[in-house]
Amino acid sequence: MFGSNKKVGTAIDPDQKEMIENARLRIKQKRGLFTHFVLFLLGSVALIVASQFLIKQDATQEIPQLLGIEWWVWVIMIWFLILVYHAFNVFITKRILGPEWEKRQYEKLVQKQLDKVKQLQVKVDKNHPLPESRKADKILSAPKTITMIAAAGENNELGNDGGIVWHLPDDFKRFKALTSGHHIIMGRKTFESLDGPLPNRTHIVITRDKNYKSADAIIVHDMETALAAVGAEKKPFIIGGGEIYKLGMSYANKIELTRVHGTFKADAYFPAIDQSQWKLVSSESHGIDEKHKYAFDYETWERV
Ligand SMILES: NC(=O)c1ccc[n+]([C@@H]2O[C@H](COP(=O)([O-])OP(=O)(O)OC[C@H]3O[C@@H](n4cnc5c(N)ncnc54)[C@H](OP(=O)(O)O)[C@@H]3O)[C@@H](O)[C@H]2O)c1
Repeated sequence: MFGSNKKVGTAIDPDQKEMIENARLRIKQKRGLFTHFVLFLLGSVALIVASQFLIKQDATQEIPQLLGIEWWVWVIMIWFLILVYHAFNVFITKRILGPEWEKRQYEKLVQKQLDKVKQLQVKVDKNHPLPESRKADKILSAPKTITMIAAAGENNELGNDGGIVWHLPDDFKRFKALTSGHHIIMGRKTFESLDGPLPNRTHIVITRDKNYKSADAIIVHDMETALAAVGAEKKPFIIGGGEIYKLGMSYANKIELTRVHGTFKADAYFPAIDQSQWKLVSSESHGIDEKHKYAFDYETWERV
């Protein structure tokens, strides 16, 4: 479904666009500071000339002073302080507390909120425990379409040795089209198998490791917190791998399965689809061609 071939195409992705926008903003800020500096120099020279040659021509006129300093010196000093403040803003504040800093603060805040939600959930679960069998119902009752999206061989093979065992560009394009703009929930191993975060998607990674950290993903430790972390999002996707599909089976209400016609060496498998609980609502075939070594079907399953 996806893998190391994820960076196809030449379009600028949102991350690159953001970097270009930031670079543009920095250039604008520095140009503004330079203009200010030139104006300050010209203004100071004009004030000195005016004070020496124009104003003092009338010797009888009393020049106003404050604390023994002439007014035009005050003007230059105050202007200089404003210029220093401007430079401080450009080189220190806006550089150190720039977009990267904002992003980090935002992620910290999100993590804090998630921890609070989890603590509240623990309290609610303790005071009003639900029977084990009804836990999934609670999340499914929210108006969401939770979709598991996967590509699997005829024996449910998903991948081997941390990677995908086929290259199907049209399936990859479909995966990208369906998941773009949405939250994608995945296991730690699948997350680490990516070349980097997938553009324009919010990554939620499930791990048992309480110290696991990533600047590119929201880290959680169970499926329920992962589904709570999608917030108001109506169409989150569970994107694998094998362990996480198994966990997700009781929470999902839709499966987008690309059934690849072949058998493969694998160490991760998609769980069996229980046909008493799921029905196949559409299927579309894709044949073999020069870019696709295997034929495959796009199968859409919905919970009955
Ligand atoms: N064909 C496809 O559509 C497709 C899609 C996705 C992935 N894949 C392939 O699938 C393979 C990876 O699948 P996988 O099954 O090995 O790994 P995975 O499901 O991606 O991740 C497994 C990890 O998830 C965490 N985890 C699992 N159950 C948990 C639970 N109950 N609570 C908390 N954390 C839990 C653990 O992380 P920690 O070890 O950090 O605790 C575990 O090691 C790769 O080969 C990948 O390429 C294929």
